[in-house]
Amino acid sequence: MNVLVTGGAGYIGSHAAQALHLAGHNVVVMDNLYRGHQQAVPMGVAFSQLDLNQTNDICELLSLHKIECVMHFAALAYVGESIEQPLTYYQVNVGGTLSLLQAMETAGVRRIVFSSSCTTYGQPKTIPLTENLPQKPISPYGWTKFIGEQLIRDYARAHDSFAYAFLRYFNVAGCAEDGSLGEDHRPETHLIPNLLFAAIGKESNNEMTIFGDDYNTPDGTCIRDYIHVEDLAQAHIAVMTALRDGDQRFYNLGIGKGYSVKQVLDAAKRICGVDIPCRIGSRRDGDAPQLYADASKIKEELDWNPRFTDINAIVQTAWKWFQSNPNGYGD
Ligand code: UFG
Repeated sequence: MNVLVTGGAGYIGSHAAQALHLAGHNVVVMDNLYRGHQQAVPMGVAFSQLDLNQTNDICELLSLHKIECVMHFAALAYVGESIEQPLTYYQVNVGGTLSLLQAMETAGVRRIVFSSSCTTYGQPKTIPLTENLPQKPISPYGWTKFIGEQLIRDYARAHDSFAYAFLRYFNVAGCAEDGSLGEDHRPETHLIPNLLFAAIGKESNNEMTIFGDDYNTPDGTCIRDYIHVEDLAQAHIAVMTALRDGDQRFYNLGIGKGYSVKQVLDAAKRICGVDIPCRIGSRRDGDAPQLYADASKIKEELDWNPRFTDINAIVQTAWKWFQSNPNGYGD
């Protein structure tokens, strides 16, 4: 298929663009490079530096490449930042999705795979998380993803043949197994990259803080579901391939198993072969004690199964990247 990947110079988008390209699809990456890196756009993939608010230019791009499906990754994605800058988050994540839909409408593109988040469920009362739990976000970031879903739902209701899929990610982790692509967030707030920076002894990150060890979990630290970025990319392809006119799909994307912060720390120590200096800090606002997916819906409906289900293997792929690229893409 001819596929537009918005945010394809970012962490998840670049891995998806590469997987689509390798699977034989014609891929066009669109990214404003605000947080993305042009070096992350895989070889052989067309690139256009556009912002989501450039509706007319996006429309032209869609028509030029005869795009049949849009994978919409481009977004701001820091919970903490969204609390400090809610308007920016609504503008980029909600306004950007609106602009993209307008461009798609004019260009006649009728399929979208939307990057949503398990954070739209807020602090659920039951785990593992199934898709039919009520969505009650607790941060502006979570609300922007929830409203993005609603926007697409309402648009689809008015256009019979329009098809969509919402993919609600859990904690996306790891890097391309062959070392070709990686994770380069600035600032970096995620657990695994910060552990690996501490292992390398990177100046600004030479001591890790564990955000709370007094949660009601077996070892007192928070439990999350870490899904490998390449498994996530394959799930996007499976979903896109299954989409038919008028389809409305939504899936949780995790491995269906949780690891605690301390378990991830132990894995990182094992893989890196060094001690990682750590201190116990206070809880981080908004962190739920346990979040992991019931991932059976996508497994049953689309026969998607993650290749990586062991935290050591996931961390290993990230370690390969961070060791070879301590300064990320270097831009
Ligand atoms: N953590 C630490 N120390 C750190 C960084 C993280 O102890 O330096 C802990 C966190 O408190 C949390 C766990 O490690 O318990 C994972 O934290 P991350 O920041 O890596 O990921 P989050 O679970 O906070 O957030 C991720 C995505 C969000 C998404 C969310 C959904 O980054 O975009 O999952 O739950 F909204």
